[in-house]
Amino acid sequence: MALPTTTRLGFIGTGTITEAIVTGILSGEQPASEIVVSPRSAATAARLAALSDSVLVARDNQHVVDAADVIFLAIRPNVTEEVVRALRFREGQQVVSLVATVDHETLRDWIDAPVDLVRAVPLPFVAWHGGVTVIFPPDPTVEALFTALGTAVPCNSIEEFDLLATSSALMGSYFGMLDHVVGWLQGKGVPAESARAYIAPLFASLSTVALNTPSRSLEALRHEYSTKGGLNEQMFSEFRSRGGTEALTGALESVLERVRSR
Ligand SMILES: NC(=O)c1ccc[n+]([C@@H]2O[C@H](COP(=O)([O-])OP(=O)(O)OC[C@H]3O[C@@H](n4cnc5c(N)ncnc54)[C@H](OP(=O)(O)O)[C@@H]3O)[C@@H](O)[C@H]2O)c1
Repeated sequence: MALPTTTRLGFIGTGTITEAIVTGILSGEQPASEIVVSPRSAATAARLAALSDSVLVARDNQHVVDAADVIFLAIRPNVTEEVVRALRFREGQQVVSLVATVDHETLRDWIDAPVDLVRAVPLPFVAWHGGVTVIFPPDPTVEALFTALGTAVPCNSIEEFDLLATSSALMGSYFGMLDHVVGWLQGKGVPAESARAYIAPLFASLSTVALNTPSRSLEALRHEYSTKGGLNEQMFSEFRSRGGTEALTGALESVLERVRSR
């Protein structure tokens, strides 16, 4: 289902994730709806407004709410209560909160009207339509929007939403792991650029295999890509026995605890 072209989108908070979403929408196949962004981060707002006539920079946050049908809360958690409590919403408006650490109940308490409230975790890849976005509760408008920017993943429970959001916090670790391997190679004498030029496509190809063969379990792929008694088998076995998998589980549990503690 595509979004009606008349849907007006508003963004409270014009930072990194708003820039990614708006950039993705404007470069998509769907005709751009009217997009209203809040004026703080003036440079980002001006950059987005320069991309298309359909992007307007609002006078203030209330102007965004007044001018839009779907309002994205894209501000940091520490200012969310103050910002949201100061706004006057209309009954039936759609509010999409991207604030990872504020739950539905708390948001409903802060929002002064009965609105359709959805939470979503878009990732920066939405800018080039490669984002995978978890949504709760499922909602056709929000799903259509994020489907146009990659893949929308509607969750059937808040537990599922929290768990998938937790796993999305592995992005930094992914680059951290690549960086660690590149650093190790560099320490052994391989130039950093050559190390990165080798490792990055290798990991990209592995992700492509995992993505393109959903019928094969990841364990089966691990075996398929590890010759019996070979180097890959040794690497994972060492990684596991030296506490690698345990450390990963511990980090996931720790982040999940934080996600659930709001
Ligand atoms: N970045 C991601 O990949 C990502 C992904 C999913 C969810 N999120 C969530 O989305 C939210 C925004 O993240 P971000 O990375 O885009 O943060 P960010 O780059 O720091 O952007 C936050 C924006 O909020 C603005 N702001 C601060 N106080 C405001 C106020 N009173 N009224 C209106 N705008 C105000 C900031 O303006 P100034 O610069 O002028 O202070 C800035 O434009 C966070 O809750 C984050 O957890 C982020």
